[in-house]
Amino acid sequence: MQRVFSGIQPSGVPTLGNYLGAIRNWVPMQDQHECLFCIVDLHAITQFQEPAQLLAQTREMAATLLACGLSPEKCVLFVQSHVPAHAELGWIFNCVARLGWLNRMTQFKDKAGKDREAASSGLYVYPNLMAADILAYKATSVPVGDDQRQHLELANDIAQKFNHDYGTDFFPRIEPFIQGVAARVMSLRDGTKKMSKSDPSDQSRINLNDDADTIALKIRRARTDAEPLPGHLAGLEGRAEARNLVGILAAVTGTLPENVLREHEGQGFGAFKEVLTEALVAHLAPIRKEMLRLLEDEPALDAALRRGAERAEAIANPILAEAKRLVGFLPRR
Ligand code: TYM
Repeated sequence: MQRVFSGIQPSGVPTLGNYLGAIRNWVPMQDQHECLFCIVDLHAITQFQEPAQLLAQTREMAATLLACGLSPEKCVLFVQSHVPAHAELGWIFNCVARLGWLNRMTQFKDKAGKDREAASSGLYVYPNLMAADILAYKATSVPVGDDQRQHLELANDIAQKFNHDYGTDFFPRIEPFIQGVAARVMSLRDGTKKMSKSDPSDQSRINLNDDADTIALKIRRARTDAEPLPGHLAGLEGRAEARNLVGILAAVTGTLPENVLREHEGQGFGAFKEVLTEALVAHLAPIRKEMLRLLEDEPALDAALRRGAERAEAIANPILAEAKRLVGFLPRR
């Protein structure tokens, strides 16, 4: 049995991209592996979050993950800041990772934007904390969307350098688990940008708590081109928006883009968008309903998260203690 770890930032309502690229793949893993899923609030504040909003979004994220099918009986679901081991190991990794490695991170460049001098130092060392999240549990399998690939390579570099510097084989190799046609869901307004919960335009994404009318409106307004749908994948070449919508329908209905094209060949986007809306609403409405139900009982949600943090700590604390011993810190006796 492998140990699985993954995380999601409570920096907004999870999007269809988070769901298809990550969360949906987490659900079946609970039955096969020891799984830890973490709401990474320490990561979220690398870009300023309104405090009241962060707090609300953290609970909403927990409710959404449970509504998507994570079960506190089958996995460890918890909030990152509840388990100090992440920040502590993150510091040790700040001292292991090299500036040159961080300078290559494309996500930092994207998120920092043009005014890099004004980015927080937390945003810069973000991948070191991500390595700590995973390695504090010695997790080996990490299910993520395609955009996290580079961060996981860096996590392996950190583990390797730690092992080398301290003459040990303490930290294992991490295997990214990037699955399926929806590993990269793109913005509805621009097929070259990924769908993101932090995009300023709400029209660019489907949020998991959007109601049926909102989904219909966003899909109707989604950017497309004037050509009808082709019968095969090669016909989507250079048509990023069309390819994205086809990929979304395939992912939501559990088929391949090839099959979607075979079925809808020659159709215009007006008709195709209606089919897509119907499939999305059918898939997301039960999640939204369950999420709203769970949010009515905040004490129950908080208690589930507390239990999750206790179970996470029971795994992470001995690993952190051993890492500290290897580094040469005097143990507190
Ligand atoms: P975050 O919160 O941006 O996204 C959570 C998960 O959703 C995936 N994802 C997508 N997949 C497909 N298409 C998209 N448009 C899309 N947008 C997001 C992400 O790849 C991710 O799997 N750094 C991470 C959180 C994190 C983490 C970790 C993940 C912190 N520590 C340790 C794994 C292991 C992040 O920002 O995810």
